Amino acid sequence: MILRRRCGASDCLAWFFISGIALIFFLISSILYGTRTENPSLPRVVQEVLPAGRCLCQQSTTFECATCLDCAAHPPFVANTTRTEGESWVFDYRRDASNYGLDEVQCQAAFPGLFEEATRAKNYAKGKGMVTQKNLTDFDLSKGMVHAMIYDGQLRVLRTFLVDNINRQKAIASLAALHRAISAARDRPSIPNIEFVLSVEDLPAQPKKPLWMLSRRAGDDDLWLMPDFGWWSWDMPSLGAFDEIAAEAIQRERVEPWDSKKEKLVWRGKLNFAPKLRRKLVDAAKGKPWSDVGQVKWEDTEFKEPGAQFLGPVDQCSYMFIAHAEGRSYSGALKYRQLCRSVVVSHKLQWIQHYHYLLVATGSKQNYVEVERDFSDLSSAMDDLLAHPEKAKRIADNSVKTFRERYLTGAAEACYWRALIKAWKEVSFEPALYEKVEDGHKKKREQKRGVRYETFILYGYNTQLEWPKSAK
Ligand SMILES: *[C@@H]1O[C@H](CO)[C@@H](O)[C@H](O)[C@H]1NC(C)=O
Ligand SMILES: *[C@@H]1O[C@H](CO)[C@@H](O)[C@H](O)[C@H]1NC(C)=O
Repeated sequence: MILRRRCGASDCLAWFFISGIALIFFLISSILYGTRTENPSLPRVVQEVLPAGRCLCQQSTTFECATCLDCAAHPPFVANTTRTEGESWVFDYRRDASNYGLDEVQCQAAFPGLFEEATRAKNYAKGKGMVTQKNLTDFDLSKGMVHAMIYDGQLRVLRTFLVDNINRQKAIASLAALHRAISAARDRPSIPNIEFVLSVEDLPAQPKKPLWMLSRRAGDDDLWLMPDFGWWSWDMPSLGAFDEIAAEAIQRERVEPWDSKKEKLVWRGKLNFAPKLRRKLVDAAKGKPWSDVGQVKWEDTEFKEPGAQFLGPVDQCSYMFIAHAEGRSYSGALKYRQLCRSVVVSHKLQWIQHYHYLLVATGSKQNYVEVERDFSDLSSAMDDLLAHPEKAKRIADNSVKTFRERYLTGAAEACYWRALIKAWKEVSFEPALYEKVEDGHKKKREQKRGVRYETFILYGYNTQLEWPKSAK
């Protein structure tokens, strides 16, 4: 006789409890495993529970920006500068690429469309009234932030909150680039006095604040974009000052012109920076004859996995096609990929950088190839490119003309910084150089705010991280 045991109330509860805990434990472990592992193939169930999070959401930004690049095709704005009196000035890559001191008219003439983002941020801020001192001080700095000021054409650091060396390096590189742009200004006294807070974190911790950031999503209207620290330099194997890498890419092109490039799509990156998104790329390329897509494991110098060896930014130029995928937010690798005379194949981007307005996905000015965020159309896009080599070559040439030889130059970077300063000034307050500090005997003493950038960079590591707290 089958004994039909009905579980008692407490047994049932315990059973539910235990299986509930087990399920939650399983889900959490799967997610942790899925987001951290570098294992190239994941069990189906782990793939399913991987959170899409910010890495594979529906929202993406497609740039409809005919206004930007197209105006570059019209007869260039004729700059009437005092230096070239009587002659019209036209940007010449070989001569002007590293000229950080183009004047405003030259900047406008050379880089149409580059200042869209500064203008957008300014117009948005205008709608909210002026940025006040309080807007910059009524919140605690979160990690990666630097509160700074430009006064009489000099950069001053007011406060920092940096948590580690990467944070510190990014902040110093950003300040250095800004300092270079204002030092080189043809008319330095015309640089307005401003006060601002910048952040070098990938993700905006406070997206509703008027902060200077490296990138933003379409909805982060309050943020102002600055060029990323990589234009100054980045301290990683095979990287360095941006113009140095550009020069190497040009050198490489001499020995390895278009026709000798591998007809393959290359990608190297870390999967756990954006597991779902990047795994889709790896999966979409798996087993394809045109694929040289592999993940990089920095720790593993042997790179046992086939196709997974480290490739420097210039080594990627040996391929006709270079895939691009965002990371935790934007990926700073895009600008290096755009230094090659190769076709950049990117998913629809969600994170905007200051120069992304110049990306053109269709038409005769096409300068990259755009695919879906899940890379479902990667295979057909690659088939099309391989079947139409003249089209691929045209896109690669356009990319060089637009990016390497124009909008990614140091000249463009410096022009953008100064345009950002000017746009910010139009909607923000006039800062004060002095503040009153307690003197101990009820008297207040006037003291200069902050410290000059030139002095700040001499401070030791610990002092730079949380300044001025650590100074006391
Ligand atoms: C260019 O500048 C010179 C000297 O400042 C001036 O005489 C001339 O009229 C200007 N030309 C144009 C086309 O604006
Ligand atoms: C500045 O602060 C005021 C008052 O809190 C607020 O109304 C305004 O929107 C802020 N401005 C910006 C640009 O965030």
